Amino acid sequence: MDQQVLLSLVSKYGSPLYVYDAEKIISQFDRIKNAFSETKRLRINFATKALSNISILKLLKKAGANIDCVSIEEVQLGLLAGFAPKQISYTPSGVSFEEIERAVDLGVKITLDNLIALEYFGAKHPGLPVSIRINPNVMGGGNKKISVGHHKAKFGIPVYQIDEVLEIEKKYKMKINGVHMHTGSDILKVETFLEAAEVLFSVAKRFEHLDFIDFGGGFKVSYKEGDPATDIEKFGKIISKRFNEICKEYGKDLEIVFEPGKFLVSESGHFLVKVNLIKEIKDISFAAVDSGFNHLIRPMYYGAYHHIVNISNPKGPEKPYHVVGYICETDTFAENRMINEVRKDDILCFRNAGAYAFTMASNYNSRLRPAEVLVYKGKDYLIRERENIEDLTRNQIITDIL
Ligand code: LLP
Repeated sequence: MDQQVLLSLVSKYGSPLYVYDAEKIISQFDRIKNAFSETKRLRINFATKALSNISILKLLKKAGANIDCVSIEEVQLGLLAGFAPKQISYTPSGVSFEEIERAVDLGVKITLDNLIALEYFGAKHPGLPVSIRINPNVMGGGNKKISVGHHKAKFGIPVYQIDEVLEIEKKYKMKINGVHMHTGSDILKVETFLEAAEVLFSVAKRFEHLDFIDFGGGFKVSYKEGDPATDIEKFGKIISKRFNEICKEYGKDLEIVFEPGKFLVSESGHFLVKVNLIKEIKDISFAAVDSGFNHLIRPMYYGAYHHIVNISNPKGPEKPYHVVGYICETDTFAENRMINEVRKDDILCFRNAGAYAFTMASNYNSRLRPAEVLVYKGKDYLIRERENIEDLTRNQIITDIL
């Protein structure tokens, strides 16, 4: 996005500020659609957790997406965005039966990831189709925290428990209508996706009533120039061919489902912060900004790289900086990062701030969460106001005990 536009948005809405490029989201959606165009029935469920602002959900709905939700609250946001219940997939992990019942009441598609919930569901709702999440036992993902398909992960039903799933299905005369997996996030290699897909295919063949196979999300995006991304077009070609073969064997045109989060929204996001001060100590220049891991935790939590550009001084000489926040514990966004000379009051822009950025923000240190702006065809739309002190105190019941 044009740097002058970003600067003018900070002047208009203040800092820190999240800005999303609607056209980038739409073009990523079209890319993924085209990548799998050789399949007959394609469904793309946007992983709501990546960016759950209702206006973003509405945009993706218009583009043709359905959504994937991992909590009943995400389901509620999806309904508020105008998705029909059947366009919403609910794929939680480790939730209570009460929450599952709420999903049943709302009429959304449900995926269960353990035998206990499945047995409960079969006894209670034998006539209601339901899908299962399996654990493919494949190690994939950019780091340990986001690798969720290995054999020690809490997610999914292990393949060796499929016999028990089939028994439960038979016992309650259930209809398991889909098989699902999600291997991890930031998975680069097409081979990793294909390896996990073969596991899912082998499970799928054992079920009689399938309507869809869901491969989850996890496509890696580029975080800086030269950083490789999943070759989605290559993956699309190979998996589509293989999927069509599987459908032939199965005797039905199954729906192929993906749940991308990062792929759709990561690169659309720009997080803009203002430099409070430059602090020089021996060998280190700290650029302290008006934010911290309360607003963008990925660098601290995963060691994730976010490219940082000084949009106020794009031609200044490059120098190394430790870019740090204002939080009361170490909150380093980047160490020894080469950035065009940074001065007090400059505006820095963090790239790839569309996915898991605002949605992972908190009020730590009683700081307020930023505003969010969506830009489409040169027009900006404020889609979330900056928080204020009332937001922090709203649910507090102030009690003076002593
Ligand atoms: N489907 C399921 C069931 C998931 O759990 C996830 C992500 C996705 C789809 C979407 O994955 P994606 O396409 O965005 O990689 N906070 C981490 C990422 C955690 C992903 C959790 N599950 C990060 O900032 O890197």
